[in-house]
Amino acid sequence: MIKNVAIIGSGTMGNGIAHTFAQFGYPVNLIDIHTDALEKAIQTISKNLDRQVAKGTITELNKSNTLNSITTFTDLQTGIAEADLIVEAATENIDLKLNIFKNLDAFAKPGAILASNTSSISITKIASVTNRGDQVIGMHFMNPVPVMKLVEVIRGYATSDDTTKKVMDLSLKLEKAPVEVNDYPGFVANRILMPMINEAIYTLYEGVAGVTEIDTVMKLGMAHPMGPLQLADFIGLDVCLAILNVLHTGFGNPKYAPCPLLVNMVTAGSKGIKSGEGFYNYADGAKAAKVAAKFSKS
Ligand SMILES: NC(=O)c1ccc[n+]([C@@H]2O[C@H](COP(=O)([O-])OP(=O)(O)OC[C@H]3O[C@@H](n4cnc5c(N)ncnc54)[C@H](O)[C@@H]3O)[C@@H](O)[C@H]2O)c1
Repeated sequence: MIKNVAIIGSGTMGNGIAHTFAQFGYPVNLIDIHTDALEKAIQTISKNLDRQVAKGTITELNKSNTLNSITTFTDLQTGIAEADLIVEAATENIDLKLNIFKNLDAFAKPGAILASNTSSISITKIASVTNRGDQVIGMHFMNPVPVMKLVEVIRGYATSDDTTKKVMDLSLKLEKAPVEVNDYPGFVANRILMPMINEAIYTLYEGVAGVTEIDTVMKLGMAHPMGPLQLADFIGLDVCLAILNVLHTGFGNPKYAPCPLLVNMVTAGSKGIKSGEGFYNYADGAKAAKVAAKFSKS
Protein backbone atom coordinates (compact mmCIF):
# COMPACT_ATOMS: atom_id res chain seq x y z
CA MET A 1 0.00 0.00 0.00
CA ILE A 2 1.33 3.41 -0.91
CA LYS A 3 0.31 5.86 1.83
CA ASN A 4 3.08 8.41 2.29
CA VAL A 5 4.82 10.10 -0.59
CA ALA A 6 8.04 12.13 -0.73
CA ILE A 7 9.02 14.35 -3.67
CA ILE A 8 12.64 15.37 -4.24
CA GLY A 9 13.01 18.76 -5.96
CA SER A 10 10.39 21.51 -5.74
CA GLY A 11 10.87 23.20 -9.12
CA THR A 12 8.48 23.27 -12.10
CA MET A 13 7.68 19.56 -11.89
CA GLY A 14 8.18 18.87 -8.19
CA ASN A 15 5.57 21.41 -7.11
CA GLY A 16 3.06 20.05 -9.64
CA ILE A 17 3.65 16.45 -8.53
CA ALA A 18 3.30 17.45 -4.84
CA HIS A 19 0.09 19.36 -5.68
CA THR A 20 -1.39 16.34 -7.48
CA PHE A 21 -0.62 13.74 -4.79
CA ALA A 22 -1.82 16.08 -2.00
CA GLN A 23 -5.03 16.87 -3.88
CA PHE A 24 -5.82 13.15 -3.98
CA GLY A 25 -5.33 12.79 -0.22
CA TYR A 26 -1.70 11.61 0.06
CA PRO A 27 0.47 13.18 2.78
CA VAL A 28 3.44 14.63 0.85
CA ASN A 29 6.91 15.57 2.05
CA LEU A 30 8.40 18.02 -0.45
CA ILE A 31 12.21 18.18 -0.30
CA ASP A 32 14.62 20.65 -1.89
CA ILE A 33 18.14 21.81 -1.09
CA HIS A 34 17.02 25.44 -1.43
CA THR A 35 14.58 26.97 1.09
CA ASP A 36 13.58 29.67 -1.40
CA ALA A 37 12.64 26.98 -3.96
CA LEU A 38 10.36 25.37 -1.34
CA GLU A 39 8.74 28.72 -0.49
CA LYS A 40 8.20 29.47 -4.16
CA ALA A 41 6.72 25.99 -4.69
CA ILE A 42 4.12 26.46 -1.94
CA GLN A 43 3.18 29.86 -3.41
CA THR A 44 2.82 28.32 -6.88
CA ILE A 45 0.70 25.44 -5.57
CA SER A 46 -1.52 27.89 -3.68
CA LYS A 47 -1.99 30.05 -6.80
CA ASN A 48 -2.78 27.01 -8.95
CA LEU A 49 -5.29 25.77 -6.36
CA ASP A 50 -6.94 29.23 -6.41
CA ARG A 51 -7.38 28.81 -10.15
CA GLN A 52 -9.05 25.42 -9.60
CA VAL A 53 -11.36 26.95 -6.96
CA ALA A 54 -12.26 29.80 -9.35
CA LYS A 55 -13.10 27.24 -12.04
CA GLY A 56 -15.26 25.31 -9.57
CA THR A 57 -13.29 22.07 -9.95
CA ILE A 58 -12.36 22.05 -6.23
CA THR A 59 -13.70 23.79 -3.09
CA GLU A 60 -11.94 26.16 -0.64
CA LEU A 61 -11.88 23.21 1.80
CA ASN A 62 -10.15 20.99 -0.81
CA LYS A 63 -7.62 23.78 -1.26
CA SER A 64 -6.77 24.08 2.43
CA ASN A 65 -6.68 20.28 2.87
CA THR A 66 -4.29 20.02 -0.09
CA LEU A 67 -1.96 22.70 1.26
CA ASN A 68 -2.09 21.19 4.76
CA SER A 69 -1.04 17.80 3.35
CA ILE A 70 2.30 19.18 2.13
CA THR A 71 5.28 19.49 4.51
CA THR A 72 8.58 20.94 3.30
CA PHE A 73 12.08 19.68 4.15
CA THR A 74 15.64 20.54 3.23
CA ASP A 75 17.04 17.36 4.80
CA LEU A 76 16.59 14.33 2.54
CA GLN A 77 17.03 11.65 5.18
CA THR A 78 14.31 13.10 7.45
CA GLY A 79 12.00 13.91 4.56
CA ILE A 80 11.96 10.38 3.09
CA ALA A 81 11.97 8.36 6.34
CA GLU A 82 8.26 7.39 6.25
CA ALA A 83 7.74 7.37 2.48
CA ASP A 84 6.30 4.34 0.66
CA LEU A 85 6.97 6.05 -2.67
CA ILE A 86 9.64 8.63 -3.47
CA VAL A 87 9.39 10.58 -6.71
CA GLU A 88 12.63 12.30 -7.63
CA ALA A 89 12.12 15.49 -9.67
CA ALA A 90 15.45 17.24 -9.15
CA THR A 91 17.51 18.95 -11.86
CA GLU A 92 18.11 16.88 -15.03
CA ASN A 93 21.74 15.98 -14.37
CA ILE A 94 22.95 12.40 -14.27
CA ASP A 95 25.60 12.73 -11.55
CA LEU A 96 23.16 14.60 -9.33
CA LYS A 97 20.47 11.96 -9.81
CA LEU A 98 22.86 9.03 -9.23
CA ASN A 99 23.97 10.65 -5.99
CA ILE A 100 20.35 11.21 -4.89
CA PHE A 101 19.44 7.57 -5.65
CA LYS A 102 22.44 6.26 -3.68
CA ASN A 103 21.09 8.24 -0.71
CA LEU A 104 17.50 7.14 -1.31
CA ASP A 105 18.61 3.51 -1.33
CA ALA A 106 20.54 4.03 1.91
CA PHE A 107 17.82 5.90 3.82
CA ALA A 108 14.41 4.88 2.39
CA LYS A 109 12.29 2.16 4.01
CA PRO A 110 13.14 -1.33 2.65
CA GLY A 111 9.91 -1.73 0.62
CA ALA A 112 9.78 1.85 -0.67
CA ILE A 113 9.50 2.37 -4.42
CA LEU A 114 12.04 4.80 -5.85
CA ALA A 115 10.68 6.61 -8.91
CA SER A 116 12.32 9.23 -11.11
CA ASN A 117 10.52 11.89 -13.11
CA THR A 118 13.55 12.17 -15.41
CA SER A 119 12.77 13.23 -18.96
CA SER A 120 15.50 11.12 -20.50
CA ILE A 121 18.11 9.66 -18.17
CA SER A 122 18.25 5.85 -18.20
CA ILE A 123 16.17 4.27 -15.41
CA THR A 124 18.41 1.18 -15.68
CA LYS A 125 21.46 3.37 -15.01
CA ILE A 126 19.77 5.11 -12.07
CA ALA A 127 18.70 1.71 -10.66
CA SER A 128 22.26 0.37 -10.98
CA VAL A 129 23.52 2.55 -8.11
CA THR A 130 20.91 1.06 -5.74
CA ASN A 131 20.52 -2.38 -4.20
CA ARG A 132 16.84 -2.49 -5.16
CA GLY A 133 16.78 -2.31 -8.96
CA ASP A 134 13.44 -4.16 -8.98
CA GLN A 135 11.88 -1.26 -7.03
CA VAL A 136 13.23 1.55 -9.24
CA ILE A 137 10.99 2.90 -11.99
CA GLY A 138 10.34 5.97 -14.16
CA MET A 139 7.22 7.98 -13.36
CA HIS A 140 7.32 10.68 -16.02
CA PHE A 141 4.65 13.30 -15.39
CA MET A 142 3.93 16.02 -17.93
CA ASN A 143 3.93 19.79 -17.38
CA PRO A 144 1.68 21.24 -15.91
CA VAL A 145 1.22 18.14 -13.76
CA PRO A 146 -2.20 18.90 -12.21
CA VAL A 147 -3.63 19.38 -15.72
CA MET A 148 -1.87 16.86 -17.97
CA LYS A 149 -3.28 13.32 -17.99
CA LEU A 150 -0.30 11.30 -19.19
CA VAL A 151 2.15 9.48 -16.93
CA GLU A 152 4.82 7.66 -18.94
CA VAL A 153 5.71 4.69 -16.70
CA ILE A 154 9.22 3.50 -17.61
CA ARG A 155 10.38 0.01 -16.80
CA GLY A 156 14.11 -0.25 -16.29
CA TYR A 157 15.88 -3.52 -17.15
CA ALA A 158 15.40 -4.81 -13.59
CA THR A 159 12.04 -3.20 -12.67
CA SER A 160 9.66 -5.88 -11.35
CA ASP A 161 6.09 -6.56 -12.49
CA ASP A 162 4.95 -5.82 -8.94
CA THR A 163 6.56 -2.33 -8.87
CA THR A 164 5.17 -1.57 -12.34
CA LYS A 165 1.65 -2.63 -11.35
CA LYS A 166 1.75 -0.55 -8.15
CA VAL A 167 2.82 2.57 -10.06
CA MET A 168 0.28 2.00 -12.87
CA ASP A 169 -2.52 1.54 -10.27
CA LEU A 170 -1.41 4.56 -8.28
CA SER A 171 -1.39 6.75 -11.42
CA LEU A 172 -5.01 5.74 -12.04
CA LYS A 173 -5.87 6.79 -8.47
CA LEU A 174 -4.48 10.24 -9.36
CA GLU A 175 -6.92 10.21 -12.32
CA LYS A 176 -4.00 10.06 -14.75
CA ALA A 177 -3.58 7.89 -17.83
CA PRO A 178 -0.44 5.76 -17.31
CA VAL A 179 1.30 4.26 -20.34
CA GLU A 180 3.98 1.57 -19.86
CA VAL A 181 7.14 1.91 -21.97
CA ASN A 182 10.62 0.41 -22.01
CA ASP A 183 13.82 2.14 -21.01
CA TYR A 184 15.61 3.46 -24.11
CA PRO A 185 16.92 7.03 -24.60
CA GLY A 186 14.11 9.60 -24.46
CA PHE A 187 11.58 6.80 -23.78
CA VAL A 188 8.64 7.58 -26.13
CA ALA A 189 7.50 11.14 -25.33
CA ASN A 190 10.81 12.96 -25.67
CA ARG A 191 12.24 10.75 -28.39
CA ILE A 192 9.48 12.09 -30.62
CA LEU A 193 8.96 15.58 -29.15
CA MET A 194 12.57 16.80 -28.84
CA PRO A 195 13.61 16.26 -32.48
CA MET A 196 10.55 18.35 -33.45
CA ILE A 197 11.51 21.16 -31.04
CA ASN A 198 15.15 20.98 -32.20
CA GLU A 199 14.05 21.20 -35.85
CA ALA A 200 11.90 24.25 -35.02
CA ILE A 201 14.99 25.89 -33.45
CA TYR A 202 17.09 25.01 -36.54
CA THR A 203 14.35 26.56 -38.72
CA LEU A 204 14.69 29.79 -36.71
CA TYR A 205 18.54 29.59 -36.65
CA GLU A 206 18.69 29.21 -40.44
CA GLY A 207 16.38 32.21 -40.91
CA VAL A 208 13.60 30.27 -42.60
CA ALA A 209 11.02 32.08 -40.44
CA GLY A 210 10.63 34.01 -37.15
CA VAL A 211 9.43 32.71 -33.80
CA THR A 212 5.77 33.66 -34.16
CA GLU A 213 5.70 32.44 -37.77
CA ILE A 214 7.10 29.00 -36.87
CA ASP A 215 4.75 28.62 -33.90
CA THR A 216 1.76 29.80 -35.93
CA VAL A 217 2.44 27.25 -38.68
CA MET A 218 2.48 24.42 -36.15
CA LYS A 219 -0.52 25.71 -34.17
CA LEU A 220 -2.83 26.44 -37.07
CA GLY A 221 -1.48 23.90 -39.54
CA MET A 222 -1.03 20.91 -37.25
CA ALA A 223 -3.63 21.75 -34.59
CA HIS A 224 -0.99 21.81 -31.84
CA PRO A 225 -2.26 23.75 -28.79
CA MET A 226 0.98 25.74 -28.70
CA GLY A 227 3.94 26.11 -31.05
CA PRO A 228 7.16 24.12 -30.50
CA LEU A 229 9.22 27.19 -29.54
CA GLN A 230 6.75 28.30 -26.92
CA LEU A 231 6.53 24.72 -25.67
CA ALA A 232 10.34 24.67 -25.35
CA ASP A 233 10.11 27.83 -23.19
CA PHE A 234 7.52 26.10 -21.00
CA ILE A 235 9.62 22.93 -20.62
CA GLY A 236 12.83 24.91 -19.95
CA LEU A 237 15.53 25.32 -22.60
CA ASP A 238 18.14 23.79 -20.29
CA VAL A 239 15.91 20.71 -19.89
CA CYS A 240 15.46 20.49 -23.72
CA LEU A 241 19.23 20.72 -24.21
CA ALA A 242 19.90 18.04 -21.59
CA ILE A 243 17.40 15.66 -23.25
CA LEU A 244 18.84 16.22 -26.74
CA ASN A 245 22.31 15.47 -25.38
CA VAL A 246 21.02 12.18 -23.91
CA LEU A 247 19.41 11.22 -27.25
CA HIS A 248 22.56 12.22 -29.17
CA THR A 249 24.88 10.25 -26.89
CA GLY A 250 22.50 7.32 -26.39
CA PHE A 251 21.83 6.61 -30.07
CA GLY A 252 25.08 8.06 -31.49
CA ASN A 253 23.05 9.53 -34.33
CA PRO A 254 23.83 13.10 -35.51
CA LYS A 255 20.15 13.75 -36.17
CA TYR A 256 19.76 14.42 -32.44
CA ALA A 257 22.61 16.99 -32.21
CA PRO A 258 21.25 20.09 -30.43
CA CYS A 259 21.00 23.26 -32.53
CA PRO A 260 23.88 25.70 -31.77
CA LEU A 261 21.30 28.45 -31.08
CA LEU A 262 19.81 26.35 -28.26
CA VAL A 263 23.29 25.75 -26.83
CA ASN A 264 24.05 29.50 -26.96
CA MET A 265 20.77 30.49 -25.32
CA VAL A 266 21.22 28.06 -22.42
CA THR A 267 24.87 29.12 -21.98
CA ALA A 268 23.72 32.76 -21.79
CA GLY A 269 21.14 31.90 -19.10
CA SER A 270 18.10 32.22 -21.40
CA LYS A 271 16.13 29.21 -20.18
CA GLY A 272 12.51 30.08 -21.06
CA ILE A 273 9.77 30.95 -18.60
CA LYS A 274 11.79 30.04 -15.51
CA SER A 275 14.46 32.68 -16.34
CA GLY A 276 11.95 35.24 -17.69
CA GLU A 277 13.16 34.90 -21.29
CA GLY A 278 13.59 32.27 -23.96
CA PHE A 279 12.17 32.44 -27.46
CA TYR A 280 9.66 34.88 -25.95
CA ASN A 281 9.93 37.53 -23.24
CA TYR A 282 7.84 36.89 -20.15
CA ALA A 283 7.52 40.34 -18.65
CA ASP A 284 4.26 39.33 -16.98
CA GLY A 285 4.97 35.75 -15.91
CA ALA A 286 3.90 32.86 -18.10
CA LYS A 287 0.75 34.36 -19.59
CA ALA A 288 0.86 33.13 -23.17
CA ALA A 289 -1.34 35.95 -24.44
CA LYS A 290 1.12 38.57 -23.27
CA VAL A 291 4.35 37.10 -24.54
CA ALA A 292 6.34 38.92 -27.16
CA ALA A 293 8.52 36.97 -29.53
CA LYS A 294 12.15 37.86 -28.97
CA PHE A 295 13.30 36.79 -32.42
CA SER A 296 10.31 38.05 -34.40
CA LYS A 297 10.95 38.69 -38.12
CA SER A 298 8.72 41.76 -38.06
N1 LIG B 1 10.06 20.95 -17.06
C1 LIG B 1 9.34 20.03 -17.69
O1 LIG B 1 8.45 20.34 -18.50
C2 LIG B 1 9.58 18.57 -17.38
C3 LIG B 1 8.62 17.64 -17.82
C4 LIG B 1 8.79 16.30 -17.47
C5 LIG B 1 9.90 15.91 -16.71
N2 LIG B 1 10.82 16.83 -16.30
C6 LIG B 1 11.95 16.37 -15.48
O2 LIG B 1 11.65 16.69 -14.13
C7 LIG B 1 12.88 16.94 -13.41
C8 LIG B 1 12.81 18.32 -12.78
O3 LIG B 1 12.68 19.28 -13.81
P1 LIG B 1 12.15 20.76 -13.49
O4 LIG B 1 11.78 21.35 -14.80
O5 LIG B 1 11.16 20.71 -12.39
O6 LIG B 1 13.50 21.43 -12.96
P2 LIG B 1 13.67 22.78 -12.10
O7 LIG B 1 14.99 23.32 -12.46
O8 LIG B 1 12.46 23.65 -12.24
O9 LIG B 1 13.68 22.25 -10.58
C9 LIG B 1 14.65 21.39 -10.07
C10 LIG B 1 14.68 21.53 -8.56
O10 LIG B 1 15.54 20.51 -8.03
C11 LIG B 1 16.20 21.07 -6.92
N3 LIG B 1 17.38 20.26 -6.60
C12 LIG B 1 18.59 20.22 -7.22
N4 LIG B 1 19.38 19.32 -6.62
C13 LIG B 1 18.69 18.79 -5.59
C14 LIG B 1 18.97 17.82 -4.59
N5 LIG B 1 20.16 17.23 -4.52
N6 LIG B 1 18.02 17.52 -3.69
C15 LIG B 1 16.80 18.13 -3.73
N7 LIG B 1 16.48 19.05 -4.66
C16 LIG B 1 17.41 19.38 -5.57
C17 LIG B 1 16.53 22.49 -7.35
O11 LIG B 1 16.81 23.32 -6.23
C18 LIG B 1 15.23 22.88 -8.07
O12 LIG B 1 14.31 23.50 -7.18
C19 LIG B 1 14.00 16.77 -14.42
O13 LIG B 1 14.49 15.45 -14.34
C20 LIG B 1 13.29 17.01 -15.75
O14 LIG B 1 13.95 16.36 -16.81
C21 LIG B 1 10.68 18.16 -16.61
